[in-house]
Amino acid sequence: MPPKLVVGNWKMHGGAEELAEARDLARRSADAKCQIVVCPPATLLNRLDREFEGTRLATGGQDCHFGRTGAHTGDISAAMLLDAGARFVIVGHSERRSDHGETSAQVRSKADAAIDAGLVAVVCIGETEDERDKGMELEVAGTQLEESVPGGADGDSLAVAYEPVWAIGTGRTPSIADIEAMHDFIRSRLIERFGETAGRAIRLLYGGSVKPGNAESISGARNVDGCLVGGASLTASSFAAIIDAFE
Ligand code: 13P
Repeated sequence: MPPKLVVGNWKMHGGAEELAEARDLARRSADAKCQIVVCPPATLLNRLDREFEGTRLATGGQDCHFGRTGAHTGDISAAMLLDAGARFVIVGHSERRSDHGETSAQVRSKADAAIDAGLVAVVCIGETEDERDKGMELEVAGTQLEESVPGGADGDSLAVAYEPVWAIGTGRTPSIADIEAMHDFIRSRLIERFGETAGRAIRLLYGGSVKPGNAESISGARNVDGCLVGGASLTASSFAAIIDAFE
C-alpha cells in the first residue's frame, strides 16, 4: 500500500514570514512515515521547496492551466510548477469551481496536463449543503468524479480529495459513517473504471475542517488514505498533530 498522503492547502495565505512555520513543520515531521505535501501560494512555491530540501516534505501548486505555454496572462502551467519544485497540484478545488466557474471538463484538462507534466494531480470533488440535504451527494460526487478524472490515471499520478463544500472552513464535518459511505462509493467507481489494482492504489483524501481534534477518527475511517487540510495547515503545531494522527 502507498503511504498515507497529508496535503496542506494554504490557499491565499502566507508570505515570507510563513517560511519559518514551514521550517518548524519540517523539523516536527522529520520522522513521519506518511507523505506530506504543502501547497503554498505560487509566489512562495520555490522558496518553500528550498526550505524542504533534504527533508521528506514536498510542495504542490493549488491550480494549473491546461496548456503548456501560451498567451494566458496570470496563469501557471503544470510544467512551470514542476520547474519551481512542485511534485503535486490540486485541481478542481471547490473554491476554483465557485470563484472561477471551473467546470469538471476543465478540471479534467488540468489534471491531464498535470499528469503529462509529471505531477501528481489531486482532483477535488464534493457536494454543496443543498445537494446533501436533497440526498444527492453520491450522485453529485459520482458525476464530478467521472467528468473530472482523466483516463489512464493510476496511484502514482492521481489522488482524489472528497471535500464537501459545506464542511470547508466551517468547523463542521460529516459523520464518520457518511465519510465512509462516500469513500466506499468513490473507491468502487475508481475500481470499475481503472481496474482493481489502480483503483485501490489511488489515494482518497478527506478534506473539510480537518483539525487535530478530529484527525484521529477521520484517519481511521474506511477508504480514507489521507487528508487535505486548509486552515489547520497554516500552523506547524496543528498540521504536525494532524500528520501524527495519520501515521
Ligand atoms: P479547511 O480545512 O480550512 O476547512 O479547508 C479545507 C480545504 O478546502 C482544503 O483544500
